Amino acid sequence: MARSAIIVLDHYTRGAIWLHWIVAALVLVNLVIGLLHDSLLDGVKGAIPFHMAIGLCVLVLTVARVAWRLLHRPPPPPAKSAGWERAVAGLTHGAFYLLLLALPVTGWMLASRKPVGAAFSWFGLFDVPVLPIPRAVSGLAHTAHGPLGYVMAGLIVLHVCAALRHHFVLRDGTLTRMIPALTRPE
Ligand code: HEM
Ligand code: HEM
Repeated sequence: MARSAIIVLDHYTRGAIWLHWIVAALVLVNLVIGLLHDSLLDGVKGAIPFHMAIGLCVLVLTVARVAWRLLHRPPPPPAKSAGWERAVAGLTHGAFYLLLLALPVTGWMLASRKPVGAAFSWFGLFDVPVLPIPRAVSGLAHTAHGPLGYVMAGLIVLHVCAALRHHFVLRDGTLTRMIPALTRPE
């Protein structure tokens, strides 16, 4: 019988933890820039090129992360967790992966309004080409990009509340597997 290539983990690897926190930090920076860019703060307005370059990093890191995730099964949920808690956690994590792909892709699409040339520059180092899509599709992506950002912000609030509940109320070590430095001595 063929053996499964999926590796079952009993803890998050160092690479998985780094990827989680780097992507989380980049997403938070991009949400702040995105949500404030319409405000009167000129500094934030000027940050959109930075926002686009960060978004591309999120896309590349997420593709790598999804590939890693397909080959690894994360550590199981705490034994005492209820079925509904596992379901909500699974749905939230799945929705995160979809949004981590959909936000940068719709962003890149909305930046591809012109027919040819560069959509944006990656931190001034190289040009990222426009995607070959019709203008109407780029308009749809523009309409979707902001609301997807709000959904992401809502899920982050839910996710952080769940992580804090695990740590301070249930005290079941879920947060410490993503932040090993917090592990309490036995
Ligand atoms: C993690 C990735 C990203 C997140 C979380 C994010 C989030 C957001 C949010 C919340 C807004 C505000 C939308 C609104 O006011 O309605 C926004 C605007 C914008 N984003 Fe993103 N974005 C991401 C990636 C990208 C990428 C990769 C690009 C382009 C390549 C991009 C281009 C833009 C542009 C041009 C705007 C301004 C749109 C306008 O003025 O109507 N974003 N983004
Ligand atoms: C800000 C953007 C964030 C995003 C997009 C995000 C995304 C994710 C995703 C996709 C997973 C599932 C990993 C897997 O496939 O197993 C995960 C796990 C986790 N995240 Fe986040 N996260 C964010 C921020 C945070 C923050 C601020 C905290 C802590 C306060 C946190 C704590 C955790 C913990 C403890 C887990 C492990 C859950 C488990 O073992 O079941 N995350 N996160």
